[in-house]
Amino acid sequence: MQGDILEIEKYVRNIFVESPQGTDQKRKKLLKNFWENHTKEVIDLSLELAKKYGADREVVHLGALFHDFSLAYDREPHDEVSSHLAYEYLIVNWFNQTVAEKVRDIILKHRCKKFIPETLEEKIVSTADAIAHFIPAFYKGAAEVAREDYAEMIRENIEKLEDEYERKVFFEDEKKILKKYMKEFKENYYYKTK
Ligand SMILES: [Fe+2]
Ligand SMILES: [Fe+2]
Repeated sequence: MQGDILEIEKYVRNIFVESPQGTDQKRKKLLKNFWENHTKEVIDLSLELAKKYGADREVVHLGALFHDFSLAYDREPHDEVSSHLAYEYLIVNWFNQTVAEKVRDIILKHRCKKFIPETLEEKIVSTADAIAHFIPAFYKGAAEVAREDYAEMIRENIEKLEDEYERKVFFEDEKKILKKYMKEFKENYYYKTK
């Protein structure tokens, strides 16, 4: 099954990297950055957490892979649209219905807004998504493409990051790790540029 997931990963990657939104170069670069410095990070972190907490790796991998899928098509609300697209994709590709439903629910709940994670696998992808937002490469890449100041971008996002820390991290260990990241973020980019 792992081999199949790697094929699906290629499929999703191509959609982000080849951008279905036409020829807008800036948007293409942003989507490529999004894939490389966000989705891939969420996949890696989710798999690490799945190992650590003994979760279903297949379901977690697929959930992380598709969690922001509809952003490649610029379609919101991306939790709802992505969960629908992923479910359809998995059913069409002969995945077991229970697996498809679990993946659908991970994606639907990853923002912890309208829907809140309940299962271990749902909590893992939500947590990994929050942690990935603290990875500097994501903002550096986006700032480069948008020709914006990286520190300024972080400063604008610090409230969002704090909010994610409060709502989306379900494990004590990861809360501790993120607390450290957040402190560094603030010291480096918030207080200095305020
Ligand atoms: Fe998202
Ligand atoms: Fe995300």
